[in-house]
Amino acid sequence: QQRIFSGIQPSGGLTLGNYLGALKRFAEKQDEGIETVYCLVDMHAITVWQDPTGLRQQTREAAAAFIASGVDPKRSILFNQSQVSAHAELAWIFNCVARMGWMGRMTQWKDKTAGKNTENASLGLFAYPALMAADILAYKATHVPVGDDQKQHLELCRDIATKFNNDFGVDFFPITEPMIEGVATRVMSLRDGSKKMSKSDPSDQSRINLTDDGDMIAKKIKKAKTDAEPLPSELDGLADRPEARNLVNIYAALAGISAEQVLTDHGGAQFGSFKPALAELAVSVMSPITTEMNRLMQDPAEIDRILGDGALRANAIARPIVDEVYDIVGMIRSR
Ligand code: TYM
Repeated sequence: QQRIFSGIQPSGGLTLGNYLGALKRFAEKQDEGIETVYCLVDMHAITVWQDPTGLRQQTREAAAAFIASGVDPKRSILFNQSQVSAHAELAWIFNCVARMGWMGRMTQWKDKTAGKNTENASLGLFAYPALMAADILAYKATHVPVGDDQKQHLELCRDIATKFNNDFGVDFFPITEPMIEGVATRVMSLRDGSKKMSKSDPSDQSRINLTDDGDMIAKKIKKAKTDAEPLPSELDGLADRPEARNLVNIYAALAGISAEQVLTDHGGAQFGSFKPALAELAVSVMSPITTEMNRLMQDPAEIDRILGDGALRANAIARPIVDEVYDIVGMIRSR
């Protein structure tokens, strides 16, 4: 029995990277008929400071982005993490299973604290991957679709599951498989082909936001950094051209074709003609999503209702699993 779990942090506006690397694929998995559980991880978001009003707004906006991207809250479970206490409860158990050394080796922790005094980082930021493992394992999820940047966290999730099973001599948690698939597992910045497209990049020109209108999307693509060569007709020709490769991959992901096919169709073209073609494609795919997000955001009470319904259904799966964990660990359960 397969069960998919994945999550997105509502810690700011979402980007084309989140759409192509995560949301679009979440909708595809649901359409393949697999059981899908999707979570807005508001408790992960507060590992760095979030303004309370902003957090609520961003959580609703992220929920709207899921739905506008094709996640159907009837066929999938869509909810925010803090409404299902199993996540926090299991995270505590995992804080006691995982080792400090494992957490200290996480590149995200190292990147986020690089050049800063870790004395002032929140304890939650350090323990973040244990909460992430709890998200997944509270549902005994077998598969987790994510972008490439989450790979190390998913390996840690497997380590935690393995250590828990060994420590207690049980075969309880599954060893979850990451699903890092397709051409858009790492969408890069439009300004620097060596950096990931990210909501936290100080330059708004570096990313396409799901809230950008068509004109803005076209403008950002036309200004994207490139080199002066025409597109090659074979993938090999992109090897040392990260910016060109990124635009080709974005085209392929948006069109639902392979990067090879993009080069068969556009090989030899200059960026002067490829960029307008990419802009037109991006606008045609993204604009309906932005419009639908805006429509959904008109009715925040309806979004909250959807999240509440999702939380009840999520809790029905996670509660018995976490109760069993308490039992395995040796906690008295007498009420
Ligand atoms: P987050 O919120 O940073 O990103 C959400 C999802 O979007 C993917 N992604 C990208 N994919 C391709 N190109 C990019 N430039 C890009 N930027 C982001 C991410 O890989 C991710 O799949 N720790 C997670 C959230 C989380 C989670 C979980 C995920 C919490 N619990 C349990 C899976 C399972 C995070 O910060 O993702």
